[in-house]
Amino acid sequence: MNDPAPISAFWPTPSAEPLDDAALAAGYGRTDRPHLRMNFVTSIDGAVSVDGYSAGLSGASDKRVFSVLRMLCDALLVAGGTLRHEGYRAVRLDGPRRAWRRHHGLPEFPTLVVVSGSLDLDPNQAALADAPVRPIVLTHAAATAPAGLTDVADVVRCGAERVDLTAALRTLHDRGLDQVLCEGGPQLFGALTAADLVDEVCLTVAPLLAGAGPGRIVAGDTSVIRHLPLRQVLVATDGVLMLRYAREPRPLPQPDVSGTPTR
Ligand SMILES: NC(=O)c1ccc[n+]([C@@H]2O[C@H](COP(=O)([O-])OP(=O)(O)OC[C@H]3O[C@@H](n4cnc5c(N)ncnc54)[C@H](OP(=O)(O)O)[C@@H]3O)[C@@H](O)[C@H]2O)c1
Repeated sequence: MNDPAPISAFWPTPSAEPLDDAALAAGYGRTDRPHLRMNFVTSIDGAVSVDGYSAGLSGASDKRVFSVLRMLCDALLVAGGTLRHEGYRAVRLDGPRRAWRRHHGLPEFPTLVVVSGSLDLDPNQAALADAPVRPIVLTHAAATAPAGLTDVADVVRCGAERVDLTAALRTLHDRGLDQVLCEGGPQLFGALTAADLVDEVCLTVAPLLAGAGPGRIVAGDTSVIRHLPLRQVLVATDGVLMLRYAREPRPLPQPDVSGTPTR
């Protein structure tokens, strides 16, 4: 099947040809140290959603990068709000992406990690109940788990009355989950920014004016302004722009697409 919206590199090095998945994976990469990568989609005018959902902003090219980023991570971090609202299903990858992970010495699927202060989570939601890898729920000591939650997930408590996100990420790293991809939502993004935990933002800009109404991709308390340099610009033929901002100049090491497992 032809790619409905081929993606090319625009900056810093333009690509002569559209990028295949291996080239996309090499551009985004994994790092040699614990790393938190955010992935969001927005409209030209900065909306977080259309009609309440991110799907209205996303298209074929964004979905492709979304899947490549899932392929690259150890843990997929998501807020309880987005998990519930977007009706997250079990995190699964297609055959070639599972094969890529096996080839690189990774488990076939990343681990789903949910951040929730209230533990108002449904253990029957497919994201938890059907998960191919036992998920982790990050909460605090004062939260009460609903019946059945500990049957389907590890409930890990970080902080006395609110989730200590710095300790939470350390817990993930202690479990070998170093490459963390966060898919939102805005309140979690705000809290991670305030705690200065964000190493990278992958931002898709959809060629849409959503108009007034929707919020931004970040919400919550104000925090200090943080500088994040631009590292990569990709453009899809459907007019979608994919930007990568990161503290480090390049992800290290690049995933090996030639055949030698890297870990
Ligand atoms: N454009 C995009 O790329 C994108 C991505 C994701 C989501 N969205 C959109 O964002 C909207 C959902 O946003 P939202 O306001 O619900 O924000 P959210 O950040 O998705 O969820 C907020 C909830 O997540 C948990 N949470 C977040 N940060 C926490 C922290 N620091 N400590 C403890 N718990 C924390 C809490 O859940 P509990 O109530 O369980 O305690 C909180 O009530 C939806 O419209 C969705 O479509 C857009």
